Amino acid sequence: MRKTLIVGNWKMHLNTMQASILLHRLQERIRIHRDIEVVLAPSMLVLQPLSLQIDRRKFRLAAQNAYHKDMGAFTGEVSFTMLRDLVHYAIIGHSERRLIFGETLTDISEKVAAAVRNGITPILCVGETKTDRLAKHTKRVLHDQVVTALKNLTSEDVEEIVIAYEPIWAISTFGGELATPNLVKEAMDYIRHQISELYGKKTAEKVRVLYGGSVDDQIARGYMEIDGCDGVLVGGASTSYHKFSGIVDAAYRMQRELGEET
Ligand code: 13P
Repeated sequence: MRKTLIVGNWKMHLNTMQASILLHRLQERIRIHRDIEVVLAPSMLVLQPLSLQIDRRKFRLAAQNAYHKDMGAFTGEVSFTMLRDLVHYAIIGHSERRLIFGETLTDISEKVAAAVRNGITPILCVGETKTDRLAKHTKRVLHDQVVTALKNLTSEDVEEIVIAYEPIWAISTFGGELATPNLVKEAMDYIRHQISELYGKKTAEKVRVLYGGSVDDQIARGYMEIDGCDGVLVGGASTSYHKFSGIVDAAYRMQRELGEET
């Protein structure tokens, strides 16, 4: 069984003090659950202090980005090598990185390879723009993003990774429209199908696929219930104690109901 994953992408929000307060409150509220993994992705600055405060039985940490070279004269950058003892995951290829910072398919595949080389699990974000969707290019875009990002990996590497489907038009930053669960399912099925074609059915069944469009505590469950969806990558709502803990509660409730059914 694939573990449910709830990831909070804090983006460039919360200074050290605010981050520490939010973690403290979440730590009081969130329980340990063997089938649910809760991951926090604070800013680079805050990773180190949070790593000292965090209850590792309840949370794992993720970086929001890193540079693909292990070390060298790259002013302003932090490498995956430097993060390896600090984080379990790294978000790679987020649409804000692709669109605002101009990250290319090649940059992203180098980052995925660097993360894996350093023992960090990539949370690879893929998704189409509104223009792609209207032009019926969604599948082609997803195909290119998945194939190039994973091209340096073996099927054993791919089994471990996480893919977040984030339709760019459904992220607050770029429009924040609501994507229907049917449409999300179709894209997620296609992503898993691609993995199956490239790395085999067994690998495709192990990869976790998340929904990364905008969600809050009211609507997250509707996406988590999609067959084949293994959780959510939460943006803005993850910096709100009430909303994020509400999303984690929704995942608990789902697991409980599932347990009662079986
Ligand atoms: P919002 O929830 O802020 O729209 O962002 C979603 C996202 O980008 C997740 O990484």
